[in-house]
Amino acid sequence: MSRASLLKQQDNQFIHPWDDIQQIGDNQRTLLRHGEGVYIEDSDGNRLLDGPAGMWCVNIGHGRQEMAQAIYDQVMELAYASPWYVATGPSAEFASRLAALSPGDLNHVFFTTCGSTAIDSALRFVQFYNNVLGRPQKKKIIAQKKGYHGSTYLAGSVSGKERDKSYLDFATDLVYHIDAPHPLNKPEAMSDEDFLKHCVGNLESAILELGPENCAIFVAEPILASGGLIVPPEGYHQGCLEVCRKYDVLYLSDEVVTAFGRMGHVFASEEVFGIQPDLITTSKGLTSGYIAMGAFLVSDRLLQEMRESADAQGIDTAVFSNGFTYSGHPVAAAAGMKNLDIMERENLFARVRETGPYLQQQLQSLRDIPIVRDVRGKGLMACVECELIQGEDDLEMDYNIGNRIDKHCQALGLMVRPLINMCVMSPPLTITHEQIDDLVSMLRRGIEAAMQECIEEGIYHLDVARAG
Ligand SMILES: Cc1ncc(COP(=O)(O)O)c(C=O)c1O
Repeated sequence: MSRASLLKQQDNQFIHPWDDIQQIGDNQRTLLRHGEGVYIEDSDGNRLLDGPAGMWCVNIGHGRQEMAQAIYDQVMELAYASPWYVATGPSAEFASRLAALSPGDLNHVFFTTCGSTAIDSALRFVQFYNNVLGRPQKKKIIAQKKGYHGSTYLAGSVSGKERDKSYLDFATDLVYHIDAPHPLNKPEAMSDEDFLKHCVGNLESAILELGPENCAIFVAEPILASGGLIVPPEGYHQGCLEVCRKYDVLYLSDEVVTAFGRMGHVFASEEVFGIQPDLITTSKGLTSGYIAMGAFLVSDRLLQEMRESADAQGIDTAVFSNGFTYSGHPVAAAAGMKNLDIMERENLFARVRETGPYLQQQLQSLRDIPIVRDVRGKGLMACVECELIQGEDDLEMDYNIGNRIDKHCQALGLMVRPLINMCVMSPPLTITHEQIDDLVSMLRRGIEAAMQECIEEGIYHLDVARAG
């Protein structure tokens, strides 16, 4: 048996995220063995352009020797230290660099192990904040349908993807979901201005329904990523922040995906969306996925308010009893700093401000393919949404079109992230114009091949599409 076959067999013991219980032990995943720049290579030696950059995370690209060296050097210097009792150079320095790069007064950093624990810790911090402020009833979390914030109990509870809710339990008493601000849901007769008002109004209505005195925080991704790359109407986040301020509700911007260059800036909240949230969560591009790390940043204002409130109540100690053995791991912090050095040295932020619009523009050329329903995105995040539905009862078939496209694209040399009927892309920030052209051309051929297959199977009819 070849090594690749053996490994595929052994992978049957690995329960992957989102595994279907019926399919554990029946693994059909592509086995990857190597990565370099924007490319990855499978166990048969096929080279694939890494369309999703792993999982929206390998922002500086694969195989950076400098990253390996930084990780190695830190392991040899000091592999671990307890964040409870001591400080280390890399975590202290990294926190201070992040604080300097963050918007406004978000000057303090709580390190975690990933995006889910960043969200979880940030939300627990907000519960703690309201308790210290003497308003323990102010606990409701308002989040968005189709939002994704992770897989701890609390992060899973604030996530709003309906399809992920079956057979699991959630903190439903704490969380209230409002509609995602999806421009595709705008009624044709409604103006853009009215649609914006409607979306922001959803947040205000939720706060009024729950009672402002019960609402702690609004959680939003600047762009809903795995919920289908939903780019809200311009002004949405500013409008929501104003509503939050009006009712004394905090605003958490979940930048697990959008930070570290994906939008052409270190953080997107202020520079792209014009808001200074109270908290930001991040992960993924923080270390470009070379090693696990997450963080939440919190404003001086919240810390100050807590101190003042504690003083006023004569509370001597109010301990935020939340943390992880690996909070501020020195090796992860060293990797994070090297990652940032590389991004700054190679001007990756400015580069994305140029390649991002180019990717968006080139992808628009796919609109002429009959099954393409929408092409959308911002920065180096994009989505091509396809539609097969021609009757009333083909919904499941529509759900599989992403997998079909992915299969054809992989054969052509492109890895896309199939998400139901969408192909989602977030390539490494180092991608060149030529590689973008290549990506778009392979995607076109992959979508056309999947469509042709559906025509041959009699589940898609071009004449119906044209008549429609
Ligand atoms: C916006 C957002 N928040 C949080 C998370 C959870 O991050 P992690 O998978 O690192 O726990 C993700 C993961 O994809 C995400 O996209």
